[in-house]
Amino acid sequence: MKNGRSLSEKTFFIGVALAGLIVGAVFVYSFIGSGKNYLLCSQTDGSGIRAISGYSPTETQLRAILHYATSKIVPQQSLGEVTISFDVLKSRAPCNFLVFGLGHDSLMWTSLNPRGTTIFLEEDPKWVQTVLKDGPDLRAHTVPYRTHLSQADELLSSYRSQPLCSPSKAFLRGNSRCRLALDNLPEEVYEKEWDLIMIDAPRGYYAEAPGRMAAIFSAAVMARNRKGSGPTHVFLHDVDRRVEKMYAEEFLCRKNLVKAVGRLWHFEIPPAANVSDGDGIGVSFC
Ligand SMILES: C[S@@+](CC[C@H](N)C(=O)[O-])C[C@H]1O[C@@H](n2cnc3c(N)ncnc32)[C@H](O)[C@@H]1O
Repeated sequence: MKNGRSLSEKTFFIGVALAGLIVGAVFVYSFIGSGKNYLLCSQTDGSGIRAISGYSPTETQLRAILHYATSKIVPQQSLGEVTISFDVLKSRAPCNFLVFGLGHDSLMWTSLNPRGTTIFLEEDPKWVQTVLKDGPDLRAHTVPYRTHLSQADELLSSYRSQPLCSPSKAFLRGNSRCRLALDNLPEEVYEKEWDLIMIDAPRGYYAEAPGRMAAIFSAAVMARNRKGSGPTHVFLHDVDRRVEKMYAEEFLCRKNLVKAVGRLWHFEIPPAANVSDGDGIGVSFC
């Protein structure tokens, strides 16, 4: 009798333990997630890369973590300045991101636009080689500039007399008559519509340097000619300098300035087709 009762008690406890295990397993499974929503870094997405919260980092992002974790050189923009573009990239990526200048920030910009297109335009061919040695999968082009910083004032006062620089007629590809137009860029730069444009080059701190006049003018033309929906986000660094500020006010326009942090200005430029005649289209960029 005693043996019979303890046998049924044992069976009861084994049953309870098994039920507990099953309920626990179901609870843990539903908490960890199903399909691709994993909370633990234990699953792969088929590409061999481990998934965290349903997100697969790209090779470039993983390389960027290693690079910045072990490099003593950091990008020049402050955290506050970088955060402005970071916030826009979070909402727009994967997107088309055009960056004037190759630097210690290039791997970061490419990584913040995963599966998008990030292209760098650099004036100095030797610097392109140096940077690409450490970042072979960055997409960079050497770009010739036709200006010198010392010409900034003269270019600004004379561009209005060249009809092919006017806001209603300006274009870039082959526009050799407008000295502010970047007329000889790689074809893919003209073919794509750029969602974000970062101007942190060319150099503009000595008289013979190219200055950023043509980059600012050309970014304004690209943004105004956009056919897709939404504005073009243009970020301009070093706005503490006279020429950057003057050209930004002439071509990117105060009314389009949406944020200013440190030495960075963020503009949202609507396509010219969306701007009414009352806004001065035809005579002024602003
Ligand atoms: C004003 S810097 C901006 C650099 C970038 N924001 C960064 O954090 O590295 C832009 C230009 O300076 C030049 N440059 C930057 N670092 C350089 C270096 N270490 N050696 C030579 N040229 C450099 C390149 O021509 C580049 O396009």
